[in-house]
Amino acid sequence: MKATQNFIQENKERFLSELVDLLKLPSVSADPKFSKDVHKTAESIAEHLNKIGMDTVEICQTAGYPIVYGEKIIDSTLPTVLVYGHYDVQPADPIDLWTSPAFEPVIKTTAIHPEGAIFARGACDDKGQMFMHVKAVEAMLQAKDLPCNVKFMIEGEEEVGSANLGIFVKNNVEKLKADIILVSDTGMLSNNDPSITTGLRGLSYVEVEVTGPNRDLHSGLYGGCVANPINTLAKMIASLHDENNKITIPGFYDKVVELSEEERAEMAKAPFSLEKYCEALDLNEVMGEAGYSTMERGSIRPTLDVNGIWGGYTGEGAKTVIASKAYAKISMRLVPDQDPEEITHLFLNHFQAIAPASVNVTVKPHHGGEAAVTPIDSIGYKAAAIAYETTFGKKPIPVRSGGSIPIVAMFEKILGLKTILMGFGLDSDAIHSPNEHFGLFNFYKGIETIPYFYKNFTELSK
Ligand code: BES
Ligand code: MN
Ligand code: MN
Repeated sequence: MKATQNFIQENKERFLSELVDLLKLPSVSADPKFSKDVHKTAESIAEHLNKIGMDTVEICQTAGYPIVYGEKIIDSTLPTVLVYGHYDVQPADPIDLWTSPAFEPVIKTTAIHPEGAIFARGACDDKGQMFMHVKAVEAMLQAKDLPCNVKFMIEGEEEVGSANLGIFVKNNVEKLKADIILVSDTGMLSNNDPSITTGLRGLSYVEVEVTGPNRDLHSGLYGGCVANPINTLAKMIASLHDENNKITIPGFYDKVVELSEEERAEMAKAPFSLEKYCEALDLNEVMGEAGYSTMERGSIRPTLDVNGIWGGYTGEGAKTVIASKAYAKISMRLVPDQDPEEITHLFLNHFQAIAPASVNVTVKPHHGGEAAVTPIDSIGYKAAAIAYETTFGKKPIPVRSGGSIPIVAMFEKILGLKTILMGFGLDSDAIHSPNEHFGLFNFYKGIETIPYFYKNFTELSK
């Protein structure tokens, strides 16, 4: 891997400028306004895969945005690594809060990234991290160090629920045959505390609509006489947590896998400062489910959060009105073995049941997905752990994340493959927020670490 590492050092500047170009494309999958740019981004990824020397690069059309596929099979008797990533990004809103435009990447230093970080939507989630894999494979190919086969599957609908990826995977089981899936779309504890993500939470996402009177009403003439849907919705939402911050939906916790005291003690060893956590978020104190630490609340426990709430008059000045309708978007993060469909169902039944007769309630399910865990005694995990030890000079800590990548559980079901989550982002990188960024240290460290995974995985597979 010496030649590979030399190639990386010699080409750092070019790697970064290529990433800058990729980040200029506003590939926002949620907003049809950017449809052309999303397609352009797929073409750009395909071009990159061709340029680094992948064989049979394809832009696979779906009912939504395309999936970019590429493979390099050097010897069918050797193991195959299947790399998954996404080229779509979250909307840049609220754009006023960006210190530089979201799709005009610039390098700036921060307290956490004194060596510089690249600021742009998608810098960390996931163009920057996905691109590390393209560059790592380029380096191995150029250095004639690639020790096994590699396949790329880069999608453009991750941020909107990957609705078409499952169909693609089901229809291409043979094409996607591999021994392990490798993903960089998560984070690590800090640049001094390398960690490998060993779990992701599942997700159930719903939208609720509460209807009171059949039209908006004068709040003086009707106020106090009819149910105000906004007041009612607020009360209903408030009742979804009890005084211990437990979720009150009957059956919600029935299938939750509880960790043993040993596992919890092991988790508690990961470096974490509540003081620094509060300071970074300008908080006086944290809040969450009684009986669990902040680390646990954010990873091994299920949650319910309102992600958006609206209704009535929100324009300039005051308007005295009782709205006919109120709405909310609610996400529930799930843990093993909660079934997203079952949880959606429990939510729906409960939300209908607690609605007073004075309003009508409808619940619309959005996307969902199951939680996933990676066993740390697998050769995939070991290959990654040794790779981190080589480049960081430190053993990585296994950490379960609170985020969701629903397709990870789906890959396991359809392809029978485990996923190794080698994430190099930091929580402070502001993914999905204004001023998203990705440390140059992290970008390069990722490119340097990935080749060792290939080497270790190939050797351990023998
Ligand atoms: N890359 C993130 C998920 C993530 C980030 C996991 C950091 C762990 C650490 C992914 O792009 C994402 O945003 N997922 C969504 C779910 C999806 C169905 C929209 C999420 O977690 O909200
Ligand atoms: Mn992502
Ligand atoms: Mn994301």
